[in-house]
This record gives sequence, C-alpha cells and structure tokens, in this order.
Amino acid sequence: MSKLHADYYADSMQQISTSLVRNDQIGEGTYRIRVAAESIARTLVPGQFVMIRMTGTNAPLIGRALAVYDVICDESGAPVWIDLVYLKKGTFTTVLAESPLGTQVTLWGPLGNGFADRSCDRLIMVAGGIGQTPMLLLGKEAMGTQNFGDDKRQHGWSRNVELIYGARRASLLAGVEDFEKAGFGVTLCTDDGSTGQQRLVPDVLRERLAELAHSGETIRVATCGPEIMMEKVSEACQEAGIDCQVSMETPMACGIGICFSCVAQVRQDGPEEWDYKRTCVEGPIFDADQICW
Ligand SMILES: Cc1cc2nc3c(=O)[nH]c(=O)nc-3n(C[C@H](O)[C@H](O)[C@H](O)COP(=O)(O)OP(=O)(O)OC[C@H]3O[C@@H](n4cnc5c(N)ncnc54)[C@H](O)[C@@H]3O)c2cc1C
Ligand code: FES
Repeated sequence: MSKLHADYYADSMQQISTSLVRNDQIGEGTYRIRVAAESIARTLVPGQFVMIRMTGTNAPLIGRALAVYDVICDESGAPVWIDLVYLKKGTFTTVLAESPLGTQVTLWGPLGNGFADRSCDRLIMVAGGIGQTPMLLLGKEAMGTQNFGDDKRQHGWSRNVELIYGARRASLLAGVEDFEKAGFGVTLCTDDGSTGQQRLVPDVLRERLAELAHSGETIRVATCGPEIMMEKVSEACQEAGIDCQVSMETPMACGIGICFSCVAQVRQDGPEEWDYKRTCVEGPIFDADQICW
C-alpha cells in the first residue's frame, strides 16, 4: 500500500466528542481552537485534516474539513491536543467563533493522505489566504523538530525550510510568529503592501527558484491556498523542474469517500487522460502536475 494513499492511514481514523479548551482570535476573522484529541494527535501526519461539527445540533448538519495546524504534547512529550485555525466565513465557522470554551464538538480523523516525506535540501512552503494551516506541521517534520504518524515516517528530511505567505492585508496574516518560532525563513506578502512585499506569492516563488537555480540543492515546494494561486505556483515549479505538491480544498460533505462532493480532475497516465478523484480519500495532497487546473 502506497504511503500516499489514504487507505494507508484509514485504520487510525477515530470519531470523538471533545470540548474547546481554547478559541482565540489570532488575526482578522481568524481563530485558533484547541481540543484534546489524543488518538488523532498520535497518528496524524502533516497535511491530513479532520472533519468537525458542533455536537448535539444539526445547525449546520454537515461537518467541515479543517487542516490540523498544530499538535501539542503534554510534559512527557506525548501528543494530546490538536489545534485548528479557521477563518470566520460562513455558517459553521461563525457558530464556532461564537462558541465559549467547554463547547462540545465532534471530530473525525485523521483524514486524507498527507504530504510526502521525500528528502530534499530545501522545502519551500507557499501559502495564500488561510492556506498556511497545513504548513506548520509539515515544516516541523521536515526540520526534524517534531515527529508525526506514530513514527511511520521519516523526519528531518530537509535541511532548510522556508515559508512564503501572502494575504490581502497584514491583519489577515495569522500565526506568523508560530512559523518564525519554528525556525523557518518567513517571507510575507500582502496585496495592499501593508506589510512585507507588495507582490503575489507565485511571483516571489519564481524569483526565489531563479536565485537557487545554480545552488545544486534539491528543492521541494508544498502549496495551499486559492486555486488560482496554486495553479501559478504549480506553473512556476513545472518551468523550473521542481517537485511540487498541492493541498486541494474542494468543499467536502462526508470526508470519508462516500458522497463524491469533493472531486477534482486529476491526470492519469498522460496529459489528456484524467479522472475525477475524491480529494478526501485520494488527496487532499496531490502532485501539482497531476491536477487539471
Ligand atoms: C482538506 C480541507 C482543509 C481545510 N482546511 C481549512 C482550514 O484549516 N481552515 C479554514 O478556515 N478552512 C479550511 N477549509 C475550508 C473549510 O472546510 C470550510 O469550507 C470553511 O471553513 C467555510 O465553512 P463555513 O461553514 O464557515 O462556510 P459555508 O457556510 O460553508 O460557506 C463557505 C463560502 O461559500 C459561500 N456559500 C455558502 N453557501 C453558498 C451557496 N449556496 N451558494 C454560493 N455560495 C455559498 C459562503 O458565502 C462562503 O463564502 C478546508 C477545506 C478542505 C477541503
Ligand atoms: S467528501 Fe464525501 S467523498 Fe469526499
């Protein structure tokens, strides 16, 4: 069984009911929740997600997918809590943002395949909007500062880790200090120039790849954010011959492969051959050159 296939991790999926122990605003309309979820925290790998819904109410009925942002350990080093970061946008996230500590939520996960742990000299993570959420764990694993997935995976697989992170304005950049504290090189971009460079993240990536072109380093790119941004990042990587993985955020209803609400067009054997793939079980992480944008 391929390590990139969801079935590889399916045995470790759990459904739990747990309560909010944190629900803090960390940016404009952006919140970070913490819940005790030991069984999920112990087995998840970077890029996996959980489905979450409010316990005991049908408003909204359908769960929402949220990438796991961080795993918090107790004093003995055992993973106990998971943190999720969400942008208050519509029905579910508005209810969640207004929920006091102690509110019960139901989670099922970890779900999806997760990013590959392929070795490289430099990992460049490119995030836009709320797409920074799967990047903290990925960078920590790559640097070898935290292990995930019950030691099924290698860690410390990249000597250097960078994040290029953009949003419309400074107030929407959330969790920047977590990435800096984790030791990643962080480049910030905003559309309005309120902080960092007033440029789009794919343009910054393109320039960075050109700078590194003669370094002799093996480089990997991982990206998450609006589809148009990921498409441009993918193009830049293809032109430079760089391995790129994307985290697709197609809307999901079940998260476990039953409803087909989450499909994306994914190439099969040749450029013209494609099929619909369920991003919840066959993704959400795909090699960028497989996606029909
Ligand atoms: C693998 C994966 C990981 C994800 N990780 C994160 C994460 O870490 N953080 C995060 O914030 N989000 C993440 N998402 C997105 C998340 O699942 C939700 O889609 C998002 O939080 C919005 O949910 P909501 O209930 O608040 O909004 P919804 O009510 O579902 O609305 C979402 C948007 O669609 C619009 N909309 C709703 N209904 C309609 C309609 N009938 N017609 C037209 N437009 C409509 C709304 O106006 C709103 O802009 C992830 C998604 C996936 C698939
Ligand atoms: S969300 Fe139901 S099949 Fe993917």
